[in-house]
Amino acid sequence: MDIIVTSPPASVTTETLVQVRGLFLTVPASAGPVNILRGMDLDIAAGEAVGVVGPSGSGKTSLLMVLAGLERATSGTVTMAGREMTRMSEDALAKLRREQVGIVFQAFFLIPTMTALENVSVPLELAGVTDARQRAEASLRSVGLGHRLTHLPGQLSGGEQQRVALARAFAPRPRLLLADEPTGNLDRATGETVMDLLFAMREQSGTTLMLITHDPALAARCSRVIRIADGRIA
Ligand SMILES: Nc1ncnc2c1ncn2[C@@H]1O[C@H](COP(=O)(O)OP(=O)(O)OP(=O)(O)O)[C@@H](O)[C@H]1O
Ligand SMILES: [Mg+2]
Repeated sequence: MDIIVTSPPASVTTETLVQVRGLFLTVPASAGPVNILRGMDLDIAAGEAVGVVGPSGSGKTSLLMVLAGLERATSGTVTMAGREMTRMSEDALAKLRREQVGIVFQAFFLIPTMTALENVSVPLELAGVTDARQRAEASLRSVGLGHRLTHLPGQLSGGEQQRVALARAFAPRPRLLLADEPTGNLDRATGETVMDLLFAMREQSGTTLMLITHDPALAARCSRVIRIADGRIA
């Protein structure tokens, strides 16, 4: 008798990379505390691409900031790769972010006095990557910017700047890429090029993606779409 052992394809996994339970985020404001996130539960499996949609002010960016460890939950837990972020020190959070999380915002946030290459290589050097320069160069080549290594951000087009930001986000080989309206500042054609690159790099690296977008067609390129309304998952 033959014993047939079947295993799922490598890209399919049930490992939970991000687990959010009972997440509340309340911030003080002059008119009194603002309840931004109001009881969120979310699981993101390793390798998944999750599109996040919802009205302006619903809490999408706030969720991203908490997952990035840039904002602390008021209550509830956030676990990343089995480690509870809500209990970690600032230093430990910064290390986790450096090693596991890439972030791309609508604004490119490149350092204006550093070349494209330095914008990608310096964070790698800070993270202790030994071949930082070579890795940065390879990452910039993969976004089609091998001929722009020594340009300053001010000497690059918006699309090129966002491609540098993409190269910077992917270069540390993060497990999770958080993207917040990454093409919001770009014209349609340029935005499509950047998005195609983002999805291609994610595909190639197996990076888990959370993509915030107002564009339903973009969200539909993800394997799952969640809707946020009033600080909750609708
Ligand atoms: N630091 C803060 N202090 C007070 N209120 C804040 C603060 N940060 C965010 N908010 C409020 O929290 C709500 C959610 O903001 P958030 O930026 O997460 O929305 P969003 O879904 O990303 O919206 P958009 O689609 O416009 O980017 C908004 O009402 C916003 O004004
Ligand atoms: Mg936002």
